Amino acid sequence: MSKTFDVVVIGGGPGGYIAAIRCAQLGFNTACIDEWKNEKGGPAPGGTCTNVGCIPSKALLQSSEHFEHAGKHFAEHGIGVKELSLDLAKMLGRKDAVVKQNNDGILYLFKKNKVSFFHGRGSFVKAVDANQGGKGGWEIAVAGATAETLVGKQVIIATGSNARALPGAPFDEENILSNDGALRIGGVPRKLGLIGSGVIGLEMGSVWRRLGAEVTVLEALPTFLGAVDEQIAKEAQKAFVKQGLKIELGVQVGDVKSGKKGQPSQVSIAYTDAKGAAQSLVVDKLIVSIGRVPNITGLEAAAVGLKLDERGAIVVDGECRTNLPGVWAVGDVVRGPMLAHRAEEEGVAVAERIAGQHGHVNFNTIPWVIYTSPEIAWVGETEQQLKARGAAYKAGTFPFMANGRARALGDTTGMVKFLADAKTDEILGVHIVGPMASELISEAVVAMEFKASSEDIARICHAHPSLSEATKEAALAVDKRTLNF
Ligand code: FAD
Ligand code: NAI
Repeated sequence: MSKTFDVVVIGGGPGGYIAAIRCAQLGFNTACIDEWKNEKGGPAPGGTCTNVGCIPSKALLQSSEHFEHAGKHFAEHGIGVKELSLDLAKMLGRKDAVVKQNNDGILYLFKKNKVSFFHGRGSFVKAVDANQGGKGGWEIAVAGATAETLVGKQVIIATGSNARALPGAPFDEENILSNDGALRIGGVPRKLGLIGSGVIGLEMGSVWRRLGAEVTVLEALPTFLGAVDEQIAKEAQKAFVKQGLKIELGVQVGDVKSGKKGQPSQVSIAYTDAKGAAQSLVVDKLIVSIGRVPNITGLEAAAVGLKLDERGAIVVDGECRTNLPGVWAVGDVVRGPMLAHRAEEEGVAVAERIAGQHGHVNFNTIPWVIYTSPEIAWVGETEQQLKARGAAYKAGTFPFMANGRARALGDTTGMVKFLADAKTDEILGVHIVGPMASELISEAVVAMEFKASSEDIARICHAHPSLSEATKEAALAVDKRTLNF
C-alpha cells in the first residue's frame, strides 16, 4: 500500500529539508526522503552542507584558526603558550559532534513541523495516472532499511551535487581526496597538494596549512579568484601568500599517480606551469576541488522523462518548475550558484508557489562568502562586470587599517569596497576582504534588497567601535568624504 502526501521532497539537504518544513508550515501533508547515512548507518539529514560541506569545514576552520592564533598571535596580546600541542583526533571529533548536533536538529525540526521522514533512496517509478501524464501525482519508491512506496501530488527534487573528479584520478579518499576525505585526514600531511584554487581549495588549504602542512595549490586559470572583484582578489592573494600558501596559477594538470586504495602512498602530479614548462609535484595527500556536478544518482530521472541539460543538471524555469507537471527542483541539482542559502531560498519559494503564493528569490542579492582569513564576501556586481557592461559607476573603499575595532582585534587586513551607480547612487555591489566579512556582508544585502543608495548607508548611525563602521566609511568614500581616512 502506498502512502499519499501532498508533497514529497527527495533529498534532505538545505534545499530539501527547508522546502519540506515550509510545505508543512503551509499546511501540506509532507514527506522528506534522504539517504545520507551516519557512521552507524542511521539517518544524517542535512546533505552535503551538514555532513561534508559548510558545517564541518567551518568547524575545522574555527579550530585551526584558534591553533594558529595560539601559536603565532597570542604573544602580541601578552599571552604566552608554553607547549602548544595539537590533538587532531579531538579536533576532528569536535567537528563530528557539531555535524551530529545539526543532523539531530533537523530530525527534531521534522518532528516539530510534522514532516514524515523516510531514510533511504527515493526513485521515480511512474506517473500515478499515465493518462494524465503526472497531473495526478507521482509514485516514488523509497529503498532503505525497508522498502516503501509513496505518492506525491507534488514532488520537489533536491538531490544536490557531488565533487568533480579529475579524469584518470578517481577519488580514493585515502590519497586523492574530495571534500569528504579532506575533512577527515587522520594526521597532518607534511605536504598537501590542492587542485583548484576555488572556494574549497582556499578553505581546506587554509585549515591544513594552519595545522602545519606545506600547502601547494595548482589552479588552471591565469587569474586568482576570477569571479571575485579584482581589487579584493589581489588583496586576498597577497594575504594568503604571506601566510605561506603556495598558489600556482595558469597550470595544466596532467597525469596524477598514487598507490592503490587502502595503501597510503605519496601522490605525484605532473603539470605544465604558466610558462609551459613541465613540472611535477609530490605530496602526501592531494585534495581535488575543481567544482561539483549535479547529482541525480538513483533518481531514475529517465524512467519519467525528466529533462537534464548538458551538464547533467535538471532543467528548470525561473520558478524551479521541471518539464514534468507537479515536479520541481531546487539547489545544487539545478542551475545557479552552488550555495546552501540559495538552495534554502529556492526551497521556500517553491513551497510557497505550490501554495499559490508568490515565492521569490532575488539572484542579484545572493551573498558569497569564502571563510578564509581574511574572509572574503561580496554581493552584487564586481568592478570588472560593471566595466564590461559599460556602466557608469562610482567606487569607494575603506581599509580596515583605519578602523579602530580592527586594530583592537589585531586584524587589519583588507577593506570594504562600495560600487554605486554614478547617476542614482544606487548600490550595485559591495565587496569585502577582511575580518568578519561573512557577517558584515548582511548589511549590504539588506541595503541592496531595499535598493538603497550609498548615501543611505553613509547616513545610518553605526555602533562604535565596530567593524561595520568600515562599511559606513566605504559608503562615505563613494562621495569622497571618509571621516577616518
Ligand atoms: P545537498 O546538500 O547536496 O543535499 C542533497 C541530499 O539529497 C543529500 O543528503 C543526499 O544524500 C540526498 N539524496 C540525493 N539523491 C537522493 C535520492 N535519490 N534519494 C534520497 N536522498 C537523496 N555553501 C554555502 O552556502 N556556504 C558554505 O560555507 C559552504 N561550504 C561548503 C563546503 C564544502 C566543503 C562543500 C563541498 C560545499 C559547501 N557549500 C557551502 C555548498 C553547499 O554545501 C551546497 O550548496 C548545498 O549543500 C546544496 O544543498 P542541496 O540541498 O541542493 O544539496
Ligand atoms: P570552485 O568552482 O569554487 O573552484 C574550482 C576551481 O578549480 C576553479 O578556480 C577552476 O578554475 C579550477 N579548476 C577546474 N578544473 C581544473 C583543473 N583541471 N586543474 C586546475 N584547476 C582547475 O569549486 P570548488 O572549490 O570545488 O567548490 C565547489 C562549490 O562548492 C563552490 O563553487 C561553491 O559553490 C561551493 N562551496 C561554497 C563554499 C562557501 O560558500 N564558503 C565553500 C566551499 C564550497
